Amino acid sequence: MCNENVGSYLKFVFTDDKSVGLYNNDVGDIYHSIFGAKSEAEGKFVAPLDFMNNFYNKDNLKVLDICYGIGYNTKVLLKKILQTNYQGKVHIDILEYDKNLVTISPFIKDSLFKSFPEISYILTSSLINEIYHNKSLLQLLVSNAQYSKFFEPFYRRLIQKYHLLGYTYYHYKQNNAFLHNIYYHCISQRIKKPYNRFKINDFIIRPYFDDARTTIKALNTQYDIIFLDAFTPAKLPTLWSYEFFKELYRLSAKDCILVTYSNSVAIRHAMSAAGYSAGKLFDKDNRHCGTIASRNKNLIKNPLDDYDIGLMQTKAGIYYRDKNLNSTVQEIIERYCKEKMTSSLQSSSQFIKKYKSEHNNGKI
Ligand SMILES: C[S@@+](CC[C@H](N)C(=O)[O-])C[C@H]1O[C@@H](n2cnc3c(N)ncnc32)[C@H](O)[C@@H]1O
Repeated sequence: MCNENVGSYLKFVFTDDKSVGLYNNDVGDIYHSIFGAKSEAEGKFVAPLDFMNNFYNKDNLKVLDICYGIGYNTKVLLKKILQTNYQGKVHIDILEYDKNLVTISPFIKDSLFKSFPEISYILTSSLINEIYHNKSLLQLLVSNAQYSKFFEPFYRRLIQKYHLLGYTYYHYKQNNAFLHNIYYHCISQRIKKPYNRFKINDFIIRPYFDDARTTIKALNTQYDIIFLDAFTPAKLPTLWSYEFFKELYRLSAKDCILVTYSNSVAIRHAMSAAGYSAGKLFDKDNRHCGTIASRNKNLIKNPLDDYDIGLMQTKAGIYYRDKNLNSTVQEIIERYCKEKMTSSLQSSSQFIKKYKSEHNNGKI
């Protein structure tokens, strides 16, 4: 995607927790909940991991962040890692086909910078070459009144300063100077505090800028944590097919936890068919807020029950197919609609009616 086109497909907004969120004009979908981009990552993606119980004691943590966007899920996980004083090494692979988003991610107002500047420093260090090559985009955004308010003032000044210097240095030196400035102004004082462990070499973050379906085929790591934060299945089904989940299953360590915000019956069915044990996620008000999956069924606190499994056997459980992981959106949707039309499975409403009459006097 061309840098200068950012304004034509992206709309920046402040969400309710003061973190910046985005809307995509082309897809017609939001990237983040308007109630809070950062809070959404905390509640729907990181809290369900139960980090202290499931991951804190591992020496190495391998994470796959599918659909990184501007990075809230990775950032909030990094916050958890720093807060809990986790001592192991952290390796995060980020899959995102929009380079612009990854480039701006360390610098936007994310409601994390003041308390945890280490997060943006870790990201900037790992992404420094991308950032350097996309410096004109950053300069454009921080100098334009329409966008600059969405960026941290510290970074606005720093980016402007480096722009004024004209990027005349050898780029390696320029990058080091840029990183040194962040470290000196935001971090060096903080790491003197005893609670704060911070070894930059313990964090490796590697971006892959391609269709996640292409990247995934080439990966061979066994991940401990997988975030799946693709656009809504009905709008962009490409990353929700049975075949995609098969690949994720192949890349899941035995105790891996996969988390997604989707509650869809068809998505849960695709995960189960791929081999996962799936379960329900609830938010703090006890509302459904997503799905958790693992190879290890003991890690699932709220497994799917008879009702959920029954629903998966109805037309609502028909999932998306993408045989070679290269179909177009149109092809995936057409195939899905055709299967639904010709299916002899009962409808979900028939199933729900029957289930209600057989259980709890009509209540679910
Ligand atoms: C709902 S947003 C994710 C928001 C993100 N987790 C965050 O914290 O900002 C979906 C993201 O998926 C990316 N995306 C959509 N389809 C993709 C694909 N096939 N491969 C890689 N990235 C994709 C979009 O560019 C977008 O950034």
